[in-house]
Amino acid sequence: MIKKIGVLTSGGDCAGLNAAVRAIVHRATGEYGWEVYGVCNGTTGLINRPLQYRHLSRGMCDTAMLRAGGTMLGTTNKANPFAFPGADGTTDRSDECIAGYKELGLDALIGIGGDGSLDILQRLAQKGNINLVAIPKTIDNDLGLTENAIGYSTAVETAMDALDHLQPTAASHQRVMVLEVMGRDAGHIAIAAGIAGGADVILVPEIFYSIDTICQKIKSLSKTESRNFALIIVAEAVKDENGEPVVVSQKWERIRYGGIGHYIGDKIAEKLGADVRVTSLGHIQRGGQPNALDRIIASAFGVYAVDLLAQGKFDRMVAWQNRQVIDVAISDAVKGYQSLQLDDILVKTARGLGICLGD
Ligand code: F6P
Repeated sequence: MIKKIGVLTSGGDCAGLNAAVRAIVHRATGEYGWEVYGVCNGTTGLINRPLQYRHLSRGMCDTAMLRAGGTMLGTTNKANPFAFPGADGTTDRSDECIAGYKELGLDALIGIGGDGSLDILQRLAQKGNINLVAIPKTIDNDLGLTENAIGYSTAVETAMDALDHLQPTAASHQRVMVLEVMGRDAGHIAIAAGIAGGADVILVPEIFYSIDTICQKIKSLSKTESRNFALIIVAEAVKDENGEPVVVSQKWERIRYGGIGHYIGDKIAEKLGADVRVTSLGHIQRGGQPNALDRIIASAFGVYAVDLLAQGKFDRMVAWQNRQVIDVAISDAVKGYQSLQLDDILVKTARGLGICLGD
């Protein structure tokens, strides 16, 4: 019998997390009369003592939460309980984390995260007999078995908006504008925003490019469209011509991308003598108000996740397929990492529009 559940957000934040937490609280307290505890800062809230949590009431989760970016619970993309960072390297703190779940008296946990976080949460659940249900979130939209993860749609809209802002200034100055967007190893944001925002060139990590092909496309615009400006969108994980990732710093525990926009921009300026400017959108894609689709998906996921717990269905991730919410095994979703496929409708659409994909 479930009476008390926990919810945590883990990994990089994104727009729509608060809408999901709100939906969980409303469904769990309203339909089932359960208590809901928000665990702070991902699993860190269960590792630290005193435990870090908040009792969540419906009054606290009003409609302002639908509109609010970030996560009211806090999050982290560094604290893996199985390799928790400390002064002398990393240690396994999974036992403390499981003990924290038990100390709080939780009967089940809803974890909202991307592939890395969900993988860790599943290991933790197996080790500690935690009744876990997962909700997918990631602006990168690279989790398997779900067409949409929370945060993706808003990130795409933000990137499209940036192209909308760049186009008039590119036209006014007859410049080549390069926009670097996020997407850790997958080009979903770049291709979707590039189509919606009218990019001339879209570069994604899944498709190899040549600078010559990009330059030919830019040159051709004056003949085919009588204009001397161009918009290029490039995903952060696109590699340089030698196949090396372009990174800000390697000192971190995982690669932090940044700089491919400038790399591409410099090459174009060198080859064409064009006036090039580069914008890197960075975390602007993560913050901000969630758009309508992210609010809707987050709300539907939250309600469905609570219902799964009520049915005693654990170890499942909610997923969006054909405008339905369904549930899949967490391990299948994590295993099925979803990069951009070459036969994806958006790749076909881009090619059909004559957008250059660099190849
Ligand atoms: O995975 C989401 C994401 O926003 C990636 O697109 C990006 O590479 C990364 O997180 C940035 O992480 P951080 O917030 O640690 O800089």
